[in-house]
Amino acid sequence: MNRRDLLRLLGLSTLVGFAGCEGPPADLPPGVVSPQTTTGDGFVPDVELVLTAAADEVAVLPGDLTRVWRFTGRVLKGPADTLQTLPGSYLGPVIRLRRGQKVRVRFANQLVEDSIVHWHGLDVPESADGHPRLAVGPGQEYVYDFEVTNRAGTYWYHPHPHMRTGAQVYQGLAGLLLVQDSEEDALALPSGEAELLCVLQDRRFDARNQLVFHGGSMMEMMNGFLGDRVLVNGQPQPTTEVDAAWHRVRLLNGSNARIYKLAWSRDLPMIVTGGDGGLLEHPLRQEALTLAPGQRADLLLDLTALAPGTEVHLESQAFVEADASAGGMMGMMGRRGGMMGGMGARSTVPNGAPLRAMTLRTRARKGPVFRLPERLSSFDAAWSPRADQTVRRVPLSFQRMEWSLDSRTFAMQDVAPAETAAAGSTRIWEFVNLTNPMGMEAAHPIHMHGRQFRVLARTGGRATNTLRGGLVDDGWRDTVLVLPGETVRVQVTFTRHPGLYLYHCHILEHEDMGMMRNFKVT
Ligand code: C2O
Ligand code: CU
Ligand code: CU
Repeated sequence: MNRRDLLRLLGLSTLVGFAGCEGPPADLPPGVVSPQTTTGDGFVPDVELVLTAAADEVAVLPGDLTRVWRFTGRVLKGPADTLQTLPGSYLGPVIRLRRGQKVRVRFANQLVEDSIVHWHGLDVPESADGHPRLAVGPGQEYVYDFEVTNRAGTYWYHPHPHMRTGAQVYQGLAGLLLVQDSEEDALALPSGEAELLCVLQDRRFDARNQLVFHGGSMMEMMNGFLGDRVLVNGQPQPTTEVDAAWHRVRLLNGSNARIYKLAWSRDLPMIVTGGDGGLLEHPLRQEALTLAPGQRADLLLDLTALAPGTEVHLESQAFVEADASAGGMMGMMGRRGGMMGGMGARSTVPNGAPLRAMTLRTRARKGPVFRLPERLSSFDAAWSPRADQTVRRVPLSFQRMEWSLDSRTFAMQDVAPAETAAAGSTRIWEFVNLTNPMGMEAAHPIHMHGRQFRVLARTGGRATNTLRGGLVDDGWRDTVLVLPGETVRVQVTFTRHPGLYLYHCHILEHEDMGMMRNFKVT
């Protein structure tokens, strides 16, 4: 990292007057800085949207409005209910799509800095994936054309500009993208008011209700930024009146770095029906569910037996902070207010602190009868584990004061031979979370763009890790949490669209610091 990169990463460029002299980043290839305003011929969209990112103000806490950045949307073509605004939230509109739809999105950047949107979890052509080299400047537009080929499920969208993903998501730029298909329709899952959308994000506010991001503390970058309160859909601990009925609960951990170990109060089970990439084969009943940044889960919740006025809380259970991240010697320095921890306070709510996210309060009304099916999906028929593959080992490590993937950090166009694969080919990648002599270790949620993958095996690590009990590796995933010392083996069939894609840690501070690499599909 050079000085300019570091300042930019810490969000300090404007403070120290660097903004004016910053030309286009030197590592951008010629020709991609101009906005893409036309797309290939022959693409006739079924749905066409405008998605604008701009500054705004919303009420989050009592008193002053909070300045945020947010996405707003408009439907130009297609069903009017494609977009659903979450009232009172800084989050972008919920985008509802169906498998098979051809979609055009006109992204308008009304921010004061470069941005680009990524559709997290969707398998789309390179030009629609939101790679940072495609970022467009203030006042410019980027046009996305893609067909929805993913299974029904809970996906999301967020910016992906070079070294600014964490800052932009934190300012409010994120939204849900829900895909429906006929397989899921056939289950007749609870819908309408009985479908609850829950985006979990932690934030820190100053005395004037303004968002506080890390104040340049290197330790907060190394460990990932934690807020001191958790918001659900942009609201602190909301209470929702619900029928005494079955509910579908869609969860997204949209936090920069916080991991949740989620559970319902009243000993209600977490009935997990879906993961990042849609329905599981069978519902899983868990006491708790570990959800790392970037991950989603679909739940069913049975409230039919509850008397009117009963409260059910969604809580994050306590876990040991060091099971998620340990700062080692540097952390000690930080805690003593030394160089690494200077200039910015730590969150008063560490990773692993018990939290209440939201409350559901039942009313007298009952809902329609619903029976939990034993079999949700037949997707396993199309998948088989391969033992005959060579395994690519990808160490996750802390070296030279940086988090790295296979001893490398991100460079805009850089691809190693091991990061190249033929379109549609199947590979096994093994993420090895190395522990470190300095004691710097972290649980890294590793995300791959393009196709969803399967988790083949999880080995090593500490049996006592308190996050373990809630992990769900079943089904299709695009983000997998690799705990300290663990080795997680995944099988991925690469997208059939050739091009340059990304894989990275979804702790956004790690990603922005370079714990991200390209892979090339040929
Ligand atoms: Cu949700 Cu490359 O990110
Ligand atoms: Cu993604
Ligand atoms: Cu990480």
